Amino acid sequence: MIRKLLFIFLIPAICFGQNPNYSEDIAPILYGKCLQCHYDGGIAPLTLETYASVVYNAGMVQNVTSTGEMPPWPADTLFQNYANENILSMNEISTIMDWITNGVPIGDTSLLPPMPIFGNSSQLGVPDLELQMPTYASTATSNSDDYVCFSIPTGLLQNRRIKAIEVIPGNLQTVHHVLVSVDPFPNSSIVTTADCMGPQGDMLYSYAPGALPLTYPENTNNSFGVVLPANSSVSFAMHYPEGSLGQLDSTKVRFYFYPQTTVIREISYDFLINEGLFGGPFYLPPNQITEITGSFGPTNQDYSFMSVFPHMHLLGKDMVIYAVTPLNDTIKLIKINKWDFEWQYSYFFEKFIKIPAGSIIYAKGNYDNTVSPSNPIPVTVQSGFNTQDEMFIGGFQYLPYQLGDENISIDNGLISSNFNDVATISSSRDLFKIINTLGQSAHPKLNTPLFYIYDDGTVEKRIVIE
Ligand code: HEC
Repeated sequence: MIRKLLFIFLIPAICFGQNPNYSEDIAPILYGKCLQCHYDGGIAPLTLETYASVVYNAGMVQNVTSTGEMPPWPADTLFQNYANENILSMNEISTIMDWITNGVPIGDTSLLPPMPIFGNSSQLGVPDLELQMPTYASTATSNSDDYVCFSIPTGLLQNRRIKAIEVIPGNLQTVHHVLVSVDPFPNSSIVTTADCMGPQGDMLYSYAPGALPLTYPENTNNSFGVVLPANSSVSFAMHYPEGSLGQLDSTKVRFYFYPQTTVIREISYDFLINEGLFGGPFYLPPNQITEITGSFGPTNQDYSFMSVFPHMHLLGKDMVIYAVTPLNDTIKLIKINKWDFEWQYSYFFEKFIKIPAGSIIYAKGNYDNTVSPSNPIPVTVQSGFNTQDEMFIGGFQYLPYQLGDENISIDNGLISSNFNDVATISSSRDLFKIINTLGQSAHPKLNTPLFYIYDDGTVEKRIVIE
């Protein structure tokens, strides 16, 4: 603690910024880049919704923003840029710092931006298919996480072409991530697999708190999408963090389909980099850092790459993936300097990236199997599907290249802001009752936290700030 304070007091000597205030400068940053997790009832343990809570946590906020720990975005954005990156600019980081060193002025609160409301309402409206996992009680303990997969039959009688996918977490406080994939072993009933942390088949989408629904790009000449096969099952690989023991969840995945007549350019999803699972395992001896490498290619035609999904388990330390073309150009795809299993995303490129025929994709990653608080007695770890095993995966969404693909923005396909969309609270439910924090019936009131209870059983906490 003392170290943090010292750090704060040393800053003024080297800082000559203007005088930012909360209402005009800080709140817009926090509302846009932090609150999706740091609202009351969200995945993060502390709320940053009010001036008071931000000031109370100012030291920590300064610390985690200056180190880059928050917002969590493990990809190195100096290496490659992605659609909807949630990172702070240098300017935003120094604004936060200046504000704290200048004594956290509140400014004119009438200039505060509208308070975003977060919850588990849909941003895309009524789906064509909604799959819901059974209600499940987390088995995470105070020091171990729960990873469990549910395979849910789609009941589809014909192939459908997916236009968009959205995950609706059942319990916003405990759903840390969801990897949605097409189970290669379709089943007519729901299958629950304990101790399962990876996608079960072709990945479709990976959700983490604050993630946007995935809408495949579409323009006048191209409708991109993915086929969800008839009779398939969809696997949800759920992650419930430590401390969530007994918390209930029943997450839903919603699919939006193109009309059956739409001709789509079908996007493939493959683990082009996939060491250890097929064709011989890898081993990570105890008490050392081990490098694992992999490659794919040379590619047999030009491809357009849409996203990359790097995946390791708990010992993963860093990872880099790039392609080298026949002309010896390097195309940078992803670099993660500090792998964090807690924050694994599919990274969508800003536009499709062309990987010319004859390219080779290279991947390199390190695993740290030395003693640490989470790994007190290291043993040899081998590649595999279970949580105590390791993986080295680079999953890609890609398709055969067509002229002009590199100009198609993927950014536009993703819904760009989930907090302007606050009013899109599902219309299929009615307000049942409003209660205050003491459980008494209440009327809507400014600046007071209230619970809105709906007839479909959902509850929202709202504070409307004047
Ligand atoms: C995608 C979700 C997410 C976003 C976005 C996010 N956080 Fe966090 N934050 C978390 C979670 C979860 C934790 C709990 C610790 C952990 O899991 O790393 C946390 C922890 C923290 C902590 C406590 C750190 C500690 O040492 O206890 C602070 C402070 C913080 N975040 C500030 C911020 C700020 C400021 C922003 C925006 C610039 C932000 N966070 C954006 C999810 C998020």
